[in-house]
Amino acid sequence: QPHLLGIEPLHPVEITTLLDLADAYAERNRKGLPAGDALAGLTQVNMFFEPSTRTQSSFELAGKRLGASVMNMGVAASSVKKGETLIDTALTLNAMRPDLLVVRHPMSGAVDLLAQKVQCAVLNAGDGRHEHPTQALLDALTIRRAKGRLHRLSIAICGDIAHSRVARSNILLLHKMENRVRLVAPPTLLPPGIDAFGCEVFTDMEEGLRGVDVVMMLRLQRERMDGGFVPSEREYFHRYGLDAAKLAHAAPDAIVMHPGPMNRGVEIDGTLADDINRSVIQTQVEMGVAVRMAAMDLLAQNLRAARGRAALGEG
Ligand code: CP
Repeated sequence: QPHLLGIEPLHPVEITTLLDLADAYAERNRKGLPAGDALAGLTQVNMFFEPSTRTQSSFELAGKRLGASVMNMGVAASSVKKGETLIDTALTLNAMRPDLLVVRHPMSGAVDLLAQKVQCAVLNAGDGRHEHPTQALLDALTIRRAKGRLHRLSIAICGDIAHSRVARSNILLLHKMENRVRLVAPPTLLPPGIDAFGCEVFTDMEEGLRGVDVVMMLRLQRERMDGGFVPSEREYFHRYGLDAAKLAHAAPDAIVMHPGPMNRGVEIDGTLADDINRSVIQTQVEMGVAVRMAAMDLLAQNLRAARGRAALGEG
C-alpha cells in the first residue's frame, strides 16, 4: 500500500506483517535498544487539525527513533487560520517534498482527499468519524500480547459508537482477524445503519459484557454531538460506565482497554482504569509508538521501491 488511510483496504496478511514488525520494535523500545535507521534521510511532517496527545507525540517519537527529520506543523499558527484550504496547505507542503505526511482532520474523508494531491506517503491519524487505523492496530497488538492470539476472541466495544472512528477501525480490523465483536451503547449513541457493521448489539452493559475476553471503553465525544443528545454524566456512568461490578460479568481474565483521552467517572471508574491486573491502557500507549514505527517503516520501504522503479523509468 502507498498510504495508510484506513483498515478497510488492508488484507489480514498485511495486518499480521505490520503487527509482527511492531512487536519487534516494541521489544527493542522496552529494552532501550536502538531501533535502526529505516527512516534515515526522510522527512516526516505531522499536520494535526484536531487536538491530540497520544497520536501526535507517538508519531513524532516513532519518526525520530527511526532516524527521520520530523516537523510538527503548528496548525494554530498556520495560514489555515487565514482561510487557506486543506488542499492548498497540502500542495504547499508537497512542494517542500516531504516523504511521510501524518494527518488528523475533523472531516471524514479529508485525509483520503489529501492523499490524492501529494507525492508522498500519507498516514491517517484520525479523520472525523471515519477511521483511526493506527489506533486499531495498536489495540490489536495490545490484545495479541495480552491474550496470546488475535482470533476467536469475544470483544465488547462500549459507549459512544456513533461518533467514534476508533470503534469503526477496530470493528473492521477485529472482523478481518475473525473475532466476534459486540457493540454496547445507549440507543442514542449507536450509529444509523448499525446492522451493516455485522456486530451483536446490546443496550444493556451487563448483558453485553457477559463472558467477553476484552472490554474496550470509548469516550463520550461531545465535540461531535452537534448540540444533539448529550447524556448527564452521572446517569451515563450509572448505566454505561465500566466499574468492577459490571466487569464481573465479563470473563474472569478479561482485559480493560481505552484509547484515551479518558474521562474518569464518566465512561470508566478511575480505580479500574489504574488496576494493572485488568487494565492495559498504558500498554496501549506503549504499543502506539511501536505500531507507528512499523507503519512508517513499511510505507518508507514501499516509497523507496516506487521511487527506485520511477528512476529506472518503470513507474
Ligand atoms: N487515542 C487518541 O487518538 O488519542 P489522542 O487524541 O490523544 O491522539
